[in-house]
Amino acid sequence: MDEQKKVLCVGLVCLDIINVVDKYPEEDSDSRCLSQRWQRGGNASNSCTVLSLLGAPCAFMGSLATGPMADFIMADFSRRAIDVTPVVWQVKGQTPCACCVVCPSSGSRTVFLYDTDLPDVTVENFSRVNLHQFKWIHWEGRNVDEQVKMIQQVQMYNSKLPQQQRITVSVEIEKTRQPLYQLFPYGDVVFVSKDVSRYFGFQSAEEALKGLYNRVKKGAILICAWAEKGADALGPDGLLIHSDAFPPESLVDTLGAGDTFNASVIYTLSNGGSLQDALTFGCQVAGAKCGFHGYDGISRVTN
Ligand code: ADP
Ligand code: FRU
Repeated sequence: MDEQKKVLCVGLVCLDIINVVDKYPEEDSDSRCLSQRWQRGGNASNSCTVLSLLGAPCAFMGSLATGPMADFIMADFSRRAIDVTPVVWQVKGQTPCACCVVCPSSGSRTVFLYDTDLPDVTVENFSRVNLHQFKWIHWEGRNVDEQVKMIQQVQMYNSKLPQQQRITVSVEIEKTRQPLYQLFPYGDVVFVSKDVSRYFGFQSAEEALKGLYNRVKKGAILICAWAEKGADALGPDGLLIHSDAFPPESLVDTLGAGDTFNASVIYTLSNGGSLQDALTFGCQVAGAKCGFHGYDGISRVTN
């Protein structure tokens, strides 16, 4: 029965307007791009895409406002068979949109996101979700004060259940924003980014894990991905686990590599795989993803 339980990802969904360029443009220039497309984006939303492509039943919780961008986004969720029952339709504000510049020749992805006028989901919204259907809930760190209260609801729910029926909680601390650091002690699995690690003064994933592990709760796993250096993890046994990156033949599109990595790690761990297997699989799928545009190619990687 447990096998059918879903992974829920809570966080941002936005419209990504992606411009693929051969060279990053000069300011105030007027040039042509190689291609342009609309894509559903946002970390939690992208991780759902990848979970679904890997064959894991999943659901998304985040905010949307009605209109053509939300129509596009909802059609895409549906195409991927992602459960959107927990989505909150806000009456004020607009659906977030990001202009993205993807540059295969350098491997860079530059993002301008506008997501500040749509309210985020609240603990009140979250309390209406039936938790029985989930085995894992992942939070992309955003409106932390509310998110902490949501996680506390899961902790209450878990406290009444035997170990094997409990929901695993993961959190992602990706942006260098002070309030997000409150999330460290709330995840059973904590993803911390290279950016945040650098902000704390660490020059490698290994240094970051050793320096930040004292912030996580007892028994938690801390994971840090470091682009072409792969990823490292540290668990309660104090053993540092590493996977090298799996670079594609040529870099094409690194937008969402981190979201792909997180989803692949969650996929492995939520199916009982080891931490080493999870890191290796995370790097394999994320590395392969950098070799094609978007996410469709993921089903080829894993078949
Ligand atoms: P993001 O910047 O999207 O959050 P990261 O840089 O943290 O992503 O990378 C996540 C994972 O994606 C890495 O652990 C690695 O496995 C893979 N990855 C990212 N960039 C590259 C790259 N240039 N070559 C190979 N793998 C990469
Ligand atoms: C990729 C992504 C994009 C989005 C941006 C928001 O990780 O989620 O889809 O535009 O980051 O920061």
